Amino acid sequence: MHVLVINGPNLNLLGTREPEVYGSTTLADVEQELKALAGDLGIQLTFVQSNHEGAIVDAVQATRRDGVDHVIINPGAYTHTSIAIRDAFAAVGTPFVEVHVSNVFAREEFRHHSYLSPLASAVLVGCGTLGYSLALRLVHSRLIDAAGRG
Ligand code: DQA
Repeated sequence: MHVLVINGPNLNLLGTREPEVYGSTTLADVEQELKALAGDLGIQLTFVQSNHEGAIVDAVQATRRDGVDHVIINPGAYTHTSIAIRDAFAAVGTPFVEVHVSNVFAREEFRHHSYLSPLASAVLVGCGTLGYSLALRLVHSRLIDAAGRG
């Protein structure tokens, strides 16, 4: 099982960026925790972080070639603006879980709409950085179920 974790713009600043909104856990902490969990679950995990929309489109397109089974993505602000990232997922058909550290629905109105959510296999919002681990557990259980169904 191969899972790709994509983090979009400004998520490289997790831990120092608006800690009252996003907490004090860094992206490196998140990745370390996910790696440990993936090891326990027998999942191969890779990570991409980019501040550039096109690089994220490239990463999504590459999932088909690379045999990625599921993506976990926090698209950052591109959630609310990027038809290109949505189209990339629609084009390759790789399932994905959308994660937001903060509760976007309790924030500014422009954060309430996501171009990606209608295509997502699940959306985790407002769970803090724990949302990434929850997403990985969810993906694992769904992949196991799918494998069981053959
Ligand atoms: C975010 C929410 C977005 O609205 C924001 O632009 C981000 C982070 C979150 O994780 O809560 O960059 O995706």
